[in-house]
Amino acid sequence: MLDTIKKYHEEVTQFKASKADKIEKFRIKFIGSKGIIKSLFADFKDVANDQKKAVGQALNELKNLATDKVATLTESIENQESGNTIYGDLTRPAAPVELGSRHPISIVKNKIVEIFSRIGYIVSEGPEIEDDWHNFSALNLPEHHPARDMQDTFFIEKNPDLLLRTHTSSVQVRYMENHEPPIRTISPGRVFRNEDISARSHCIFHQVEGLYIDTDVSFADLKQTLLYFTKELFGKSKIRLRPSFFPFTEPSAEVDIYWGLETETDYRITKGTGWLEIMGCGMVDPNVLKNAGIDPKKYTGFAFGMGIERIAMLLYQIPDIRMFYENDVKFLEQFKAVQ
Ligand code: DAH
Repeated sequence: MLDTIKKYHEEVTQFKASKADKIEKFRIKFIGSKGIIKSLFADFKDVANDQKKAVGQALNELKNLATDKVATLTESIENQESGNTIYGDLTRPAAPVELGSRHPISIVKNKIVEIFSRIGYIVSEGPEIEDDWHNFSALNLPEHHPARDMQDTFFIEKNPDLLLRTHTSSVQVRYMENHEPPIRTISPGRVFRNEDISARSHCIFHQVEGLYIDTDVSFADLKQTLLYFTKELFGKSKIRLRPSFFPFTEPSAEVDIYWGLETETDYRITKGTGWLEIMGCGMVDPNVLKNAGIDPKKYTGFAFGMGIERIAMLLYQIPDIRMFYENDVKFLEQFKAVQ
């Protein structure tokens, strides 16, 4: 019997298989319930007493050998199979998901909207292709008015009444036409001007327009609102209003914030004055209210408008406006932390 066991021992040692059905056949042949090892154990009782120890040992070894063989072969084909599927090894850690970042223009726009929404302003939007009425005439800029030249306009060739809006002030007209006071609205959007592209200006850029209409709105309300805004956005609490001219507001002003003169950059960007111009504003001209269907005897209001690029350039010290539109990932990636 020992010889038989030795022969099987040899057979088990030599056995190789890379297919599951072959391994299964092998398993049934040796360690199945009607397999070789079972029947050898059944024959064990007939073994002469003096051989029982040696035969018993050899039998146990054969059983362990066959069991281990089946286990290792099965494991190896399982590994192979999972590694060969189109998904590769399903137990491996997932590849990291690349996170994008918001565009700095969106970041600043969202900040501005958020600051005004805290004091009750609602976002409104208007079309980028605008008609003459909403972009100019209703805003107190009648045809042939010299102030139209302040904003070089892209006209739609086939229809001279249509143009690419030169400012978001067009949205205030639309909003007033469709809403009753009290009005508090903020209108972010893209605007277009036929200007040469340089480090300071571009033919496409973004503005935010603000409008507040109610009974008894005063210039003091305007100043306090803008002071709140500059404190929240820049952390600067000193502003000044310089008299200026816009056809749609009377009186009109330019808003400067006191930026300070702490660094060399402060000197450069404020031209040594410490002051920076950040927006235009004023009390809505009664003519504009009338054009948009609001009774100027009953209501007054203020408006303001600012360029988002300019504010983003100040906040993040971006030296060239063209960087916003180049889509250079190395530039855009830097804003991951500030969304
Ligand atoms: N629309 C002006 C521009 O594009 C900005 C502006 C100034 C808007 C004064 C206003 C305002 O609402 O009151 O230059």
